[in-house]
Amino acid sequence: MFGKFSRRQFARLAGLSALGMATSARSADSDARPVSDRRPAAGFPKDFIWGTATSSYQIEGAVDEDGRGRSIWDTFSHTPGKIADGSNADRANDHYHRYRQDVGLIKQLGVKAYRFSIAWPRVFPEGTGAPNPKGLDFYDRLLDELLNNGIEPYATLYHWDLPQALQDRVGGWQSSDTSKAFADYAGYVAQRLTDRVKNIFTINEAGRFLNFGYGWGIDAPGLKLPVAELNQARHHVVLGHGLAVQAIRAHGRAGTKVGFAENIAACVPAIDTPENVRATEMATRELNAGILSVILEGQYTEGFLEYSGAAAPKFTADELKIIASPNDFVGLNIYAPQFYIAASDKKPGWTVLPFPVSFPHMKSEWLRIGPEVIYWAPRIAANIWNLDTIYISENGTSSEDKPAADGQVYDLDRVMFLRNYLTQLQRATAEGVPVRGYFLWSLMDNFEWIFGFEQRFGLYHVDFDTQARLPKLSASFYRDVVARNAIGA
Ligand code: BGC
Repeated sequence: MFGKFSRRQFARLAGLSALGMATSARSADSDARPVSDRRPAAGFPKDFIWGTATSSYQIEGAVDEDGRGRSIWDTFSHTPGKIADGSNADRANDHYHRYRQDVGLIKQLGVKAYRFSIAWPRVFPEGTGAPNPKGLDFYDRLLDELLNNGIEPYATLYHWDLPQALQDRVGGWQSSDTSKAFADYAGYVAQRLTDRVKNIFTINEAGRFLNFGYGWGIDAPGLKLPVAELNQARHHVVLGHGLAVQAIRAHGRAGTKVGFAENIAACVPAIDTPENVRATEMATRELNAGILSVILEGQYTEGFLEYSGAAAPKFTADELKIIASPNDFVGLNIYAPQFYIAASDKKPGWTVLPFPVSFPHMKSEWLRIGPEVIYWAPRIAANIWNLDTIYISENGTSSEDKPAADGQVYDLDRVMFLRNYLTQLQRATAEGVPVRGYFLWSLMDNFEWIFGFEQRFGLYHVDFDTQARLPKLSASFYRDVVARNAIGA
């Protein structure tokens, strides 16, 4: 029946050689190299930082404990109809009480870095004014636990949980009062924690929370502002970042490193030609004009100002200087290719190609699969902004994550996703793109914003009734990559 094929070919077709089950076929075919003879991959740079990430509102729970104030996400998630499964993060992963166990989970992965966020309303329940005396106690305990376990903390100051009081009093980021309040909070945290936290991300994904929360009304605080007001709010956020950088430098220990984490509008050349790469560089600057370009160049691009017209933000030269306060690193959150770019003869010299509906995605529909994005986005960013330290501050995927009959979670799609993205990241570091570390989103399943607990992103499965944590197949996969500091053979 199989007469047409050699045994080796058959084993290949059946996928058996990949499983190491085709030994007899190999011995019948002398040119086949044993797996162990394959050249090892060059791997990641020697001091590459492997990590994982979470955020306060998504995991902590304990929303009424130790004097925490309310955040805009408490209000939003308790508003009927806003969260797909009707849930909220009042309890979430109960990490506030289970952090010791969770640090143990990080340790088991073998990673040496953990990116978490501090909840502003725990520290300043009213957003400004007197700090809550117990506001940093939890983070003190968490930091000690991390350091005792040899894990380097990377703290994010703002992962979207704005104190509700600031939203009520001044309209949140619609006012530059919030930028100033953010800097005061940043300075206070820096003063108190930089004896142990050496790396601080100011703001996570400004692009996301502004568009979704202030533009389209999908995220907290649920506003649908006209473009001019949205642009002004965005300006207040980048100003808040700049002021926070200055406050951290003024109040933190010398040597504290500061940057931000942004979901760069990630552009990929549709076909890798020199013209398309050049076009992709131009597109990246323009499509990130309101955040990355202004922070890293100290000016809004001409294209952005022209395009925005009367809706452009109002700003002063002094503000631009503050916004461009030098960063020590740039964090890029990279999940999906957002724009495939081709060169064009027409102005502005580049064009965005439309996505066919058949373009593949992961469980989350927005999460299109394009591993090459994690090669191109940092390469292009490093080139146009002359960066020397980039972290992939988030990357990961959702999956169905249903335990199988034996109770284990075989998240093969996540393993596939990570394998392909990390292969492309390794390609980037091998070519000298200055990516110094990678934080996998997320350590464990958690409250996925408007999707509630329906979309899982963790390496550990969480049963939200019992709070049991269980490593998925991807946790073993990641542990192996980290241990070998390499992907592929
Ligand atoms: C956010 C995370 C979120 C993840 C997956 C990022 O946009 O920073 O908070 O859970 O993506 O959607």
